[in-house]
Amino acid sequence: MRSIDAGIEAGIHAHADANADADTEARRGEHAFAGNAALMLRASRIGKTFTLHGQGGVRIEALAGVSLEVERGECVVLVGPSGAGKSTLLRCLYGNYLASTGSIEIRDMTDQGRPVSITGAQPHDVLRLRRSVVGYVSQFLRVIPRVPTLTLVAEPLLSRGVSEAEARARAAALLARLNVPERLWTLAPATFSGGEQQRVNIARGLIAEHPLLLLDEPTASLDAENRDVVADLIVEARERGAAIVGIFHDEQTRAKVATRRLELRPPRRHEAGHQAGH
Ligand SMILES: Nc1ncnc2c1ncn2[C@@H]1O[C@H](COP(=O)(O)OP(=O)(O)OP(=O)(O)O)[C@@H](O)[C@H]1O
Ligand SMILES: [Mg+2]
Repeated sequence: MRSIDAGIEAGIHAHADANADADTEARRGEHAFAGNAALMLRASRIGKTFTLHGQGGVRIEALAGVSLEVERGECVVLVGPSGAGKSTLLRCLYGNYLASTGSIEIRDMTDQGRPVSITGAQPHDVLRLRRSVVGYVSQFLRVIPRVPTLTLVAEPLLSRGVSEAEARARAAALLARLNVPERLWTLAPATFSGGEQQRVNIARGLIAEHPLLLLDEPTASLDAENRDVVADLIVEARERGAAIVGIFHDEQTRAKVATRRLELRPPRRHEAGHQAGH
């Protein structure tokens, strides 16, 4: 009886300690956001381990101890070898992957600038943030069947209440700037070339001018001219006050858009499994 009580007590203590850690971290986060009006994103000691249930439960540690703060007007470029966890970090920040450890908070511009914890948010909070605060551009367009390009690009503005005429005009201007031929605008992008699809994807990701942008190799399949257009659009977003975290495969684009770099290393190849940014 006594040992069972002791066990329960120990369990309760362990739980209380974990809660205390989370509380301390939450308070630090609140102070950080309250004390810095430009802070958009704060990630603290993020870890992500994947368990491959279909393959004998093998565990893959993709991220360990990554911390990052991003302010308006900053573009933090993630660098590091293939497999270092760059895309995984972006997906954790977007709430696509749930981080295994650590905390991620994003300033919610739709709620008086209050920080929202992505690691503990309800799905409807995450969806609200994605509509108004956080934009994500992946390397590949997830093709929506039968939706014409112009409608696809205008949609993020429509969902934020912009009139149809204005949304379509802005979508047209952005597609033209990205050299997507006008004859393609009424067609669904399923049959487009890789580079055309990527430019549609970028237009859709940038049109709503989200205050926080997460960009995963948005220029990977573009020619030099279009890469420069995209780099210009990213710099304009930054200068307009967006906070940006991005991955770019070519050094020229990195040099153009970055205000800071964060180097990631694969955790298991690094002593003590710790990653430090600089
Ligand atoms: N959904 C997943 N399930 C299991 N393992 C994953 C998953 N996503 C990523 N990983 C693993 O996490 C590690 C980091 O992958 P990630 O895609 O983040 O790397 P990266 O730095 O973006 O690389 P690259 O430069 O090649 O795009 C890899 O070892 C990868 O196999
Ligand atoms: Mg990647």
